[in-house]
Amino acid sequence: MCYNMPDMKRMMIVTAGPTREHLDPVRFLSNPSTGKMGFALAAAGAAAGFDVRLVAGPVALATPKGVKRTDIVSAREMLVAVRALLREATDGLKPVFIATAAVADWRPARIAAHKLKKAEMSGTLHLVRNPDILKSVHGAVKVGFAAETDRVLAEAARKCREKKLAFIVANDITKPGTGFGTETNRVTLVFPDGRTVAWPLMTKRRVATRIVRTIADLEM
Ligand code: CTP
Repeated sequence: MCYNMPDMKRMMIVTAGPTREHLDPVRFLSNPSTGKMGFALAAAGAAAGFDVRLVAGPVALATPKGVKRTDIVSAREMLVAVRALLREATDGLKPVFIATAAVADWRPARIAAHKLKKAEMSGTLHLVRNPDILKSVHGAVKVGFAAETDRVLAEAARKCREKKLAFIVANDITKPGTGFGTETNRVTLVFPDGRTVAWPLMTKRRVATRIVRTIADLEM
């Protein structure tokens, strides 16, 4: 199978892992994302012939073969990195953007340059909203992920519409074998027209290969 024009590879940008939102040099807000799903997608994309660019938060994973990686810490750094990559995309070949990162929605309003002392903290942490990376990016074929605990498919469908996605990969993280840190995942693809496709429990590698195949079959 060949998903590209001769001599040119379509860019596939993948965000992966958590972001960290620091309040001082030694403390941050974050989440337990390990980046496994995103790294599996990057590997599957490279194997399928895409020019894969991985934008990774702090994770303990090796860069898959053939993948170019940018490491970031915060959501705002992730957005800057994604925008810079989109500017590099080859004319006429719309890039693919797959957002698997567990981006922190909020960050501390102020980042102290020094380690805060107990006496300097009031017990209230003021937060401000982070940018929605997937929603704010244009000019790409966009695929999102929705890890939910309630109303899984309805929430996924809302995000698919609001972020103008080609499809969204929904999973119920209350079910065994899914969610943060596992080797497996059970997902349902939700398309903008309301169509859903449920896949059985599989390794994240297998899920990644099938997602890349679904993307390659989209009209771009
Ligand atoms: N996402 C993103 N930037 C954000 C938040 C989310 O790029 N600031 C992406 C995620 O990578 C994922 C999708 O958007 O692909 C859905 O993420 P999720 O956290 O489930 O959605 P939110 O928009 O944050 O929605 P809510 O908090 O209402 O569940």
